[in-house]
Parts: sequence; structure tokens; C-alpha cells
Amino acid sequence: MAEIVIRGGNRLNGEITVQGAKNSVLPILAATILCKGDCAVHNCPNLSDVDVSIKILEGLGCNCLREDNTVIVDSRDISCYKIPEHLMREMRSSVVFLGAIIGRTGKAVISSPGGCELGPRPIDLHLSALEKLGVQIIEEHGYLYCDARDGLKGAEITLSFPSVGATENIILAAACAEGMTIIHNAAKEPEISDLADFLNSAGARIYGSGSDTIYIYGVKTLSGTEHSIIPDRIVASTYMAAAAITGGNVCLNGVMPSHMVAILSVFRDSGCEIDVKGKTIRIKSSNKLLRVPTVRSLAYPGFPTDSGPIIISMLCMSRGTSVFVENIFENRFRYVDELKRLGAKIKTEGKIAVVEGVDRLSGANCKCTDLRGGAALVIAGLAAHGETVIEEIRHINRGYDNIVKSLKTLNADIKE
Ligand code: EPZ
Repeated sequence: MAEIVIRGGNRLNGEITVQGAKNSVLPILAATILCKGDCAVHNCPNLSDVDVSIKILEGLGCNCLREDNTVIVDSRDISCYKIPEHLMREMRSSVVFLGAIIGRTGKAVISSPGGCELGPRPIDLHLSALEKLGVQIIEEHGYLYCDARDGLKGAEITLSFPSVGATENIILAAACAEGMTIIHNAAKEPEISDLADFLNSAGARIYGSGSDTIYIYGVKTLSGTEHSIIPDRIVASTYMAAAAITGGNVCLNGVMPSHMVAILSVFRDSGCEIDVKGKTIRIKSSNKLLRVPTVRSLAYPGFPTDSGPIIISMLCMSRGTSVFVENIFENRFRYVDELKRLGAKIKTEGKIAVVEGVDRLSGANCKCTDLRGGAALVIAGLAAHGETVIEEIRHINRGYDNIVKSLKTLNADIKE
């Protein structure tokens, strides 16, 4: 199995361009199902989750072509409305294809998406919203049989939690429904706005994305279009933490600092110097990171849960003790035991992690438990004395486009 081997201690410096956002490209690839024409999706990162999405599209009858960072999808001849179980299991977020398949074909059959490394991943908000739009859903033998036999009709939907995936599924199902749909307490993440921008460029009429109330006026058909994916704010935070923990000086290009306000604030609290100019962020790390005031993960624009493992790993080498509160997922600290193998001093109790900074980490063998937990191990390995060997790196490859090459560019002693 592939492993990442790091010899820690090098200060990171130099500059890299941050990849397109995984959590934007996945729903946008799903959205191409609604478009009767060619869709060119630019700035598409090279990720295994993107590979799975393309397999799902081809299984539905789409023709997909990949040229460097562009994926071209021709979904004129959608012939199927089922996602095979093995593909559902490979990628939990394939549930976001549900709304698009129903929006295009009126039907969908998917296997109930399994839980994942972050704990149970219920989809009750997705399903109750789709039912309000006129979808009959039968759950049987681990499969969901969805059928909008009388067509999709707009509805007024209030989400009990601003779920990113549920908001995306409603937008996808409502884009070509009859009449108007309103989503109250919608997720406000930048990836929601990117999806709305993509659909509007194809002829949809979606207003209010980025706020907590979204209005969708159903249209008859959507055409092909072109779109460039927004930069990945979580990947950007990962490279910033790598620079911070190694006392480095790194410039990130092609980012959108306005998507990272809560993230930048924590880096500044830790003593790093952050210079924002247009689409670049330069981070200069002080030699010893400071503890930071309690960080709480919240729905956007609060601090993103996905950057939690990234920041916790960086703070392992800070002076003092910091507290992190995980408010979004139930079980997002599984990587902490692996960080402890490198000498980290972290105590977790329920949704709280207490990080006591240490003077040094020491390289060790460790295993990825999930995508962002894996990134946390890489960050710690970059600062640890000696060699760190990270196994199960398939988790990292789901969301990071060639992290080894990027870190090598920044002077890390790392290989796969
Ligand atoms: C998206 O997941 C992201 N994934 C996650 O990124 C991200 O952590 C999350 O949003 C929050 O920002 C993609 O976009 C592909 P949610 P999603 O629905 O849509 C509960 C990464 O590392 N919930 O906002 O699944 C759920 O259990 C990944 O890139 C319900 O209870 O997130 C969780 O506790 C990890 N019922 C909370 O809401 C539902 O029907 C947030 O879930 C749906 C969700």
C-alpha cells in the first residue's frame, strides 16, 4: 500500500497555487446531469473523489472527457437513474447526485450512503426536503427508491440545521421543478454559491445563495455551460498550517481570502504574520506558535469543521494550551490517537479537544483515519524530529491534489 514518508524539521518556504475546491466540484459535477449540452468544468482538482464522480456520471449515460484541470461532461443522453452500490460506498458525498438525477429523470435508486469516518452521516434532512418537493421515497434492503411520479413541484423548506449537502440537493432538485422553492436556514458556504453560479450560468434562476434564504424559480431546461471552480479554502488552511508549524514563510496563490476570514483569524492569534493581497496569502510563522483562544467549529462563516484537525495538529507545537470545540460532527477526533504517537499532548472529551503544546514531536509510524485527520498527520510529521511514515493515504488522496509534490515544492523532505 502507498505510504507517505517525511523527515521533519525543514522550514517550508516558496509559493504554490491552491487547487480547486473538492466540496464545490463534487456538487457541480452532479449538476451537469441537469444540463442538456456540454459542460466544461475548469480548475478541477485531480482527486479520487472526482474520479468516482466521473464514474457515476458515465454510469448514468454521460460522456466525460478530462483534459488537465478541465472536465467536459456531455449529459444529453442520460439513460439510467441508478448509482451502483460500490460507487456509493466509495464516496459518501455521492448522495448529492440524488437531487440531480431526480431533477433530470424523475427517478433515482441509490444505496443508503454508509456512515463514514466522522460518525453516522444521516441524510434525513435531504430526504424530508425531497419529499416536500414531491418525491416518494421508499427505503428497502439498504436501498432508496425515489420517484417523483407527478413531477417535482416547488415548496417552502426550512432546514433544522444548515446542512451543506441538503441545501445542495434541494437546489439541484428544485432548479427544474415547477414553480418556486424557498430554502430557509440554508447553508451559506462558498461552495453553495459556486453551485448556484454554475447553475445560473446554464440558465437556472437561483437567488440568495450565500445567505440563509435561497429562492429558486424552476426553469424548463438547462443548457451546457463553462465554469471555473473556486479555490479550496480547507486545502489552503492545510498548507498554511504546514508553514506555521515549521517556522516557514510561504505564499499561496489563487486563493479567495474572503472565504477564509475565520481561518485567518486563528492563524493570526497563533502569532503568524498574514499578508493578504488580492488572490494571494503570505504566511510568515513566528518561531514559536502561541496558544489561541478557544476555537469552535460552526457553519459558515464560522470556523470550518474541516480545518479543525489542521489547526489542532499545528497547535501541538504551540506554547501553552488551546481548546477546540467540534460542533458539527459527532466523531471527528479519531486521528488524535495517531497524533499522540508523534508525541502530541491532546485530551479529548466528547466534542472538546484540549491541546497542550509540546517543545518537540518525534517521527513515528501512523495511519490515516479520514481525509482531514490524514492531513493533520502530514502537518505534524513535517515538524517532528526524524522519520514519520503515514499509511492508508488513500484518505488523503480523496481531497488533496498531489500533496507530496506541493510540499516538496515548499522544501519539505517528503516522498510517497
Ligand atoms: C459537507 O458535508 C462537506 N462535504 C464536509 O466536508 C463538511 O465537513 C460539511 O459539509 C460541513 O461543512 C462535501 O461537501 C462533499 P452537512 P455534508 O450536511 O454535506 C448532520 C471534507 O472533509 N446532518 O452540513 O455531509 C451531519 O451528520 C468533508 O471535505 C444530519 O443530521 O455536511 C453533520 O453532523 C467532511 N442530517 C452535520 O449535519 C442530514 O440530513 C453537518 O452535515 C444531513 C446532515
